[in-house]
Amino acid sequence: MIDVKTFGEKAKLYCLKNKDGMQVSLTDFGARVVEVLLPVEENGGLRNVSLATKSDEDYRKTDLYPGSTIVPVAGRISGAHAEIKGTTYHFTENEPNRTLHGGVGTANEQYWDVDLANDTQSVTFGIVLKDGLNGFPGPVAVQAVYELTDANELKVTYRARSEQDTLFNPTNHVYFNLSGKFQEDIGEHQMRIAAQSYVPLGEDNLPLGHFEAVEGTPFDFREFATFNQGFKSNHPQNILVKGYDHPWLLDKVPTAVEVISSDQKVRLQVETNQPAVVIYTYNFPQESLAAYHGVFSMECQALPNACNVDGFGSILLEKDQNYVSETTYRFLW
Ligand code: GAL
Repeated sequence: MIDVKTFGEKAKLYCLKNKDGMQVSLTDFGARVVEVLLPVEENGGLRNVSLATKSDEDYRKTDLYPGSTIVPVAGRISGAHAEIKGTTYHFTENEPNRTLHGGVGTANEQYWDVDLANDTQSVTFGIVLKDGLNGFPGPVAVQAVYELTDANELKVTYRARSEQDTLFNPTNHVYFNLSGKFQEDIGEHQMRIAAQSYVPLGEDNLPLGHFEAVEGTPFDFREFATFNQGFKSNHPQNILVKGYDHPWLLDKVPTAVEVISSDQKVRLQVETNQPAVVIYTYNFPQESLAAYHGVFSMECQALPNACNVDGFGSILLEKDQNYVSETTYRFLW
């Protein structure tokens, strides 16, 4: 049985547990991961490694992104417009001259439908993005499926189908601190990314539109290295965003990214069918839920601004085509 609780005034919390005692809680508010609890402390005590609040109102008061599903288009779109098969569409400008994470009032701020499907270890959230929401063609029917496996994996599957040609590049915005200490920085976490190149950004946080080799830079995580490699570097790209907020182009290997907690007790392995990962290290001190550099997100997706950059691949979702993306977070301890 899935344990269902209230989560603030309007939201619900769905709690999954597997045979090793790992637990994941999810809410319909934003089809969001709330806590990921691992029995790694002494005597089987639980450690939460996912940045969370206590209710829907708390997310509204602090930050609507942690753990949420970002649709229809993750990341920034330059000029807040793009062409879809020859027609230009204008999107909501929620940053100066650009659209971030699909605009405002979008699915990370909505209450999704829930289907528990008599399953004990998965929850399916569904929503329909209305035609014209933030300027994107639709309607687009979206499903976010979260499954907790007995192999200590959280599997995230996004499915979508649109009634018109549109753009679609979803991601999940879960933030981790694998030590479970959200008021301490992740500088000593170690990360490995199977990527030979990354995408440098401009002043406006938009991709500059070309790839750069990671070799010889603080973006080289082909072998395990700490986040401090970038936090303490003078590389102009780290200075520009005060850490990492960059896309890496992933090698086609089974395990794209791995991260080990500062106390080495937790290892996270990420598998995805997506071409890129955006790693963001909570670089704006005004964000109140965690310390500056207190968490990192790993947004598996197609490259940001792909709709406006030649060579960044396509995020076109054609009418009546079935979209599927899959990302698995495996925890070892
Ligand atoms: C990230 C983005 C950051 C920041 C964050 C939300 O995905 O790359 O620049 O906007 O979301 O606070």
